[in-house]
Amino acid sequence: MENKKFYLTTPIYYPSANFHIGHCYTTIIADAIARYKRQNGYDTYFLTGSDEHGSKIEGKAKEAGVTPQEYVDKIIDDAKDLWAALGISYDKFIRTTDQEHVECVQKIFKKLYDQGDIYKGEYKGLYCTPCESFWTESQLVDGKCPDCGRDVQEQSEEAYFFKLSNYADRLVEHIEKHPEFIQPVSRKNEMINNFIKPGLEDLCVSRTSVKWGIPVTFDEKHTVYVWIDALSNYISALGYLSDNDENFKKYWPADLHIVGKEIVRFHTIIWPIMLMALDLPLPKQVFGHGWLIINGGKISKSLGNYKDPREYIKSYGKDAVRYFVLREVPFGNDGQFSEEALIARTNADLANVLGNLVNRTISMDKKYFDSVVVKGNTSTEFDEDLINTVISAKDNVDKYMDELKVPEAIDSVFEIFRRANKYIDETTPWTLAKGNDEDIDKLKTVLYNLLEAIRIGAILLQPYLPDTSEEIFRQLNTKVTGIDTINEFGGLVLGETLEEPKPIFARI
Ligand code: MSP
Repeated sequence: MENKKFYLTTPIYYPSANFHIGHCYTTIIADAIARYKRQNGYDTYFLTGSDEHGSKIEGKAKEAGVTPQEYVDKIIDDAKDLWAALGISYDKFIRTTDQEHVECVQKIFKKLYDQGDIYKGEYKGLYCTPCESFWTESQLVDGKCPDCGRDVQEQSEEAYFFKLSNYADRLVEHIEKHPEFIQPVSRKNEMINNFIKPGLEDLCVSRTSVKWGIPVTFDEKHTVYVWIDALSNYISALGYLSDNDENFKKYWPADLHIVGKEIVRFHTIIWPIMLMALDLPLPKQVFGHGWLIINGGKISKSLGNYKDPREYIKSYGKDAVRYFVLREVPFGNDGQFSEEALIARTNADLANVLGNLVNRTISMDKKYFDSVVVKGNTSTEFDEDLINTVISAKDNVDKYMDELKVPEAIDSVFEIFRRANKYIDETTPWTLAKGNDEDIDKLKTVLYNLLEAIRIGAILLQPYLPDTSEEIFRQLNTKVTGIDTINEFGGLVLGETLEEPKPIFARI
């Protein structure tokens, strides 16, 4: 049997404050991809987590009058609650304060040091404390941090460095040979032209001034600095360099790292170089998506311009939030987030297209056939086109998901629902209901085709809106919900009785 596995990850987020809709964006998309892969028979491992060390968190904890560990524990409890509220089906939530992670990072650091990739030196640079980033003069924008626009300070200290330049040629070769490695393609060009070609500077990988970090085992005044700690999560989570490394053997290399565009360079330069130094295979793909923006600006914890995402879930429902995130913005581009846009999406697609279709169909079946699933012997001139639309949807979904065009994939499912609504307008069941025996026979066919279109649509919708699909299956009272039941039209069992019609999405 073919061994189909899929390992995908989100970034591990900083728990400096509670997670916002931007973090939900990456995580919901990753969740939909994970669910889609599982549905299609892949042994899937979906990792998310938190990046808990560093001076910023140390400072936040101090402000709050708690220890850094207490500070992050509280935020992580909240994050897990948020992921549950959104139905995030992660297989593991890694925290960089987990003992296994700490040990793994220490071993990695030692190994790189022992083999000469890491050496001791002196760091001088321009540092942005809120972003925990050193910048070079040329990277600054108007003399300020290019990420957050705040002042940077000159800093210098003893530090360990990782000789990235040793591996630059191999990296360029890999990127050129594997055009799928950095996606979208525009980000690939940016990496090569802006970062690699000008020459890779050695990377500072330890700190003496940061106490809240993983100690370097052979030089205890140093803690491991940000990116080696953070990036290692993708392999430490699988048990790399531990006694329990079955998952590592099974799932590494990652099939997909999904990250925001601002950290593509860490994932496509530092991370592959670390892996080369460790003599490990490289991830197959890093996808850098765009940002959700509010009023033209980035949603940011440090700017504080956002609401708790659970407020949107409370007002509009989990699947409305998931749908917005999955559907609204072409994956890879930036897109606007606003409550108005969320409401407009929900009304247009979920209430008007999907909700209406399901409710009208189940109500008509109740009215005309006592909620029993029936089927006639006559067909209408509109059947073939409806059935073709339903049957071809899976191919479209697969094609788009392979390219990570998630909004297009989900829209291919909605193509079924739109076509089915049109089919109602074409066949006018309420007129057939008033006609002769042949019309009633046609009406049976029409309702069967509608219910079957809804069943197949709900199966294809499962990775994106799992609760909505469940509710549709409940109202259809069907157990025929496997992905293997949609290749042929006609899986819905005759003679079953539907549940009471109940609106699945109300207009807001
Ligand atoms: N801890 C690092 C990542 C380490 S990965 C080994 C980090 N954390 S973060 O908390 O700043 O999260 C950044 C990520 O959150 C982005 O790359 C993106 O996935 C997500 N987003 C945060 N704000 C976002 C938007 N406004 N829009 C879309 N995604 C956003 O960087």
